[in-house]
Order: sequence, then structure tokens, then C-alpha cells
Amino acid sequence: MESLDLEKSPALGAIRGVSEARPERPGEAADAEPTRAAGRRFHIWTYGCQMNVHDSEKLANLLLHAGWEACEAADQADLLLVNTCSIREKAEHRLYSDLGALRGWKGAREGRVLGVGGCVAQQEGDALLRRFAHLDFAFGTHNLRLVPRLADAARAGERAARVEESRSLERFDLPERHPAFPGAGRGSAFVTVMEGCDLFCAFCIVPRTRGREISRPAAGILAEVAALAARGVREVVLLGQTVNAYGRHDLRRGGETAAGVVPFAELLARLAGVPGIERIRYTSPHPAFFDDALVSAHGALPALCPHVHLPAQSGSDRVLARMRRRYAADDLRRLAGALRAARADLVLTTDLIVGFPGETEEDFEATLALVRDVGFVDSYSFKYSPRPGTAAAAFPDRVAPDVAQARLERLQALQRELTLAAHRSRVGTRTEVLLEGPSPKGRGQLQGRDPYHRRVHVAAADLAVPAALAVGRLVPVEIVEATPHALLGRPLLTQSPGAAAR
Ligand code: SAH
Ligand code: SF4
Ligand code: F3S
Repeated sequence: MESLDLEKSPALGAIRGVSEARPERPGEAADAEPTRAAGRRFHIWTYGCQMNVHDSEKLANLLLHAGWEACEAADQADLLLVNTCSIREKAEHRLYSDLGALRGWKGAREGRVLGVGGCVAQQEGDALLRRFAHLDFAFGTHNLRLVPRLADAARAGERAARVEESRSLERFDLPERHPAFPGAGRGSAFVTVMEGCDLFCAFCIVPRTRGREISRPAAGILAEVAALAARGVREVVLLGQTVNAYGRHDLRRGGETAAGVVPFAELLARLAGVPGIERIRYTSPHPAFFDDALVSAHGALPALCPHVHLPAQSGSDRVLARMRRRYAADDLRRLAGALRAARADLVLTTDLIVGFPGETEEDFEATLALVRDVGFVDSYSFKYSPRPGTAAAAFPDRVAPDVAQARLERLQALQRELTLAAHRSRVGTRTEVLLEGPSPKGRGQLQGRDPYHRRVHVAAADLAVPAALAVGRLVPVEIVEATPHALLGRPLLTQSPGAAAR
């Protein structure tokens, strides 16, 4: 089972100036530079989901346009931004311990500026500035465009929290990628299609940190994707808190609206027609917004990857109702069947919560049954964590922590079995890997994703071209080995059409 923790951001290693949260502790780097007052070098630490990872990319791009320069680590930086996540208590607490440790960072060089953004900043606003005297500014999830100005104002001694919610489409009007922005080299790029969430699931803080649903006009999305394709991007990952709710408010009256929003399946079809785009993914969809057109799109559009991340949360109807999820477990079984009827090789992955208030052993067993019945190839599973202001935080019947922990372990053991079996069934098959960069453990390997979003490693020495040229390309491989976490592929030297299953 993949051990990705949504509170970290593994995708960012490749992006200069934007790193995984806390790659080094402040003050620890051996090569700390001599004091250089009021330089313009920035670094960003990112926690949270893909939306936050992409927000950090947007911030980096805005800062590059404003004359800042990216640097590799906090110790070299004049401006440090911490982009935060609030999805579980642990994520929020991590920010507070980071901020404590950053007192030393701030004091070590005159003119240094510290800003905090993201979901905790949206939630806490001013309170962060009151609590941490060394924090210069806080910015909310709708205020990315203000950051260059906030940073300059901080230099002039101003402290500010800007967390107002915007309901305007202006949020999507961001500058093109700066020439110094290197993210596109990976061959895959995130593209925002909608933001916010109006669903208010009982456990979830996101509607309070990301605000109301707003969909981006299709023309802007298509223009961005065409520009990415022209720079060599082969895969786009469409992002939204409930991505397949795209346009639902605007389209209530039917047809294309004045704002230029189209049905989600139509958006996918238009994107599939952009020359150079070979793969389209979207995340995270909500199970309640799969209409027939979206299900059929999986059969009709070869570029639409045969993988859907379908967050189930629970397999018990009683728990799902208390979570306010708007579907029953059998709806998920039916949806899984319909998606596979449209695309036989489709892979499903999911998110699950154990220990939601009131969850009994029987409820939990219903979750295990759902996972088995649907055959999720992977899942991210979490112990329920109460979040301020959410409905479930007031539910009285909490599950004891040791019970929740034991359930998490049972669920993860089942998932490991299913993941390993699914991976083993791939040995001997052919597929295509979009290479992203070096494998984290090195060993002369590169890693990437196959169309099913499985991680695949390949030996750089087996490639027909040098590793640096292979990154960002689609490489046909034969799967030769399977572990619970990943696959090992051997590059196929002939690229005959059809050699690579999509
Ligand atoms: N929009 C997605 C979920 C985004 S949050 C959806 O509708 O499914 C990512 C995942 O974090 C969720 O799927 C859920 O499994 C988990 N999560 C959210 N709030 C949580 C909480 N309070 N405690 C534990 N896990 C939580
Ligand atoms: Fe949170 Fe539910 Fe919205 Fe997903 S759909 S972001 S779980 S409130
Ligand atoms: Fe976290 Fe905010 Fe994403 S709470 S999971 S960073 S939307």
C-alpha cells in the first residue's frame, strides 16, 4: 500500500524553491550563507493535498514574476512561506511547532520575512499574528495574488492578515508560467478547474478553509492546457475539491453559461482534443457527481486515464448518512461496476476514515466488505480527527483511540493484501510510464506513473536515452516485478503502436 500521507507533499521535490514540508530544520544547514540584508530569495514549505501543492506552484510563479528568485532551502531564503493544511489536528499542530522553531530562522538575518498561507491561515487569520510575534503576514486560500505585495509591505515593517473570501473569477487570472518556473519539465502538470466545496460533510473542514464552489471558465482551462502542451507537458491533472461538481451551479439552467462553463464530461472531451495531451486525470471527484456522461467518457476518451480516485470514507450506510456523504455503500458498488463496464481495465483507489463518532464493529466490518467488494487497488486511510466548527466535532459518541488504531491497522492489512495481489497480476504485462525523475531511493532508477497511477521504477541504464532526456517522456515498459508499494518495469526498446497498453 502506498504510504503517502496527505499532510506531506511528495510531488514537490522536483520544483526549485518549493520543497516538501520541512526538508531541513531551520538553522541546521552547514552552508548557511553570511548575512545578506534584504535579498530577494524565497522558499516555500508545503503541507496538504494536491490543491495546496499547486497553490505553492502558483505562489512560486507569482514571486518569480515579482522579481524574486527561488532557492533550495530555508537557510538561504530571505522570504519563507509555509503553506499549511488543516485537514486533521496533527497537520495543524505541525504548523505550530514549525512556527516555534522558525523564531531562530527569522532572527538569524536582518530583513527576513515569514509568511503563512493555506488552510490553517484561512481558518485562524489574525490569531496567528497575535500568537506568533515573529510572523510577518498570513494569507488565505483566496489571496495568493496578494503575496508579493504582502512580502514587500513586510519589508517596510507592516504586519497583516488577508483572509477575505473572494467570489470572483479573478482568482483564476494568474500570469503564465515564468521562464524560470521549472515545474513543466516533469511532463505532468496540475490545472485548477474548480475550487471550494459546498457539501459540508460532517467531518470535514475544507468548506470552511476553501470557501464556496466556484468553477473556472472552460476557455481559460483550455488555453492553459494548450500552453502546457506547447511546453512539452503530456499529462494534465485537473484539480478541484470536488472536481466533478465542476459547473454544477452555473449549469443548473442547462447549456453553456455566460461564464463559459460546460458539463464536466464535455470539458474532458475538449481537453482530449488538445494536440500533445496524451493523458488526462482528475482529482478528487465526489461519488455523488458521476453522471452518465462522465461514466461514458471513460469508455470514449482514450486519453482519459483508466484510474479514478473515488473517496468512499466508509462502507456503512449508517455512518455514511451521519457523515452526510449523499450516497450509500451500494451506490459505490454500482458506480464501480458502471465505470468498469465503460472501461474494463479501470483501477479504483479510495480514501477511508475509521473511528468516526458512533462507528461500531459492525459498521467497520461493512467498510472492510466494501473495500473487498470494489477491490480498491490502493487507499489512503485515516483515523477520524475532530475539526473545529464541523458538525461531527459535536457528536458525543467518540470511538476510543485504541479501538480506532486497531481498526486502522486491520484496514491497512487488508489493503496491503489487495494492493500486492493487484500489483502481482501486472507482472508480464506491458504499459507506458510517464517518467517524473529519480527514484527517492536512488539505485540508478527513475520513477514515474503508469496510466493506472501505479508508481513504476525503471533502471536508468536500461533506457535508450540518457536519464535527463527521458524525464517528462512516456516510455513503454514491461512489468517485471511487483512490491506492495510499486512496480518495476523494463523499458521496451521498440515503440510499435499498441506495444503500450493505455
Ligand atoms: N474532497 C474529497 C476529500 C478531500 S479531504 C472528498 O470529498 O472525498 C482528503 C481526505 O481526508 C478525505 O477523503 C478524508 O478521507 C480525510 N479527512 C477529511 N477530514 C478528516 C477528518 N476530520 N479526520 C480524518 N480524516 C479526514
Ligand atoms: Fe470535505 Fe466532503 Fe467537501 Fe470532500 S466533499 S472536501 S470531504 S466537505
Ligand atoms: Fe489540507 Fe486544505 Fe487540502 S485542509 S487537504 S490543504 S484543502
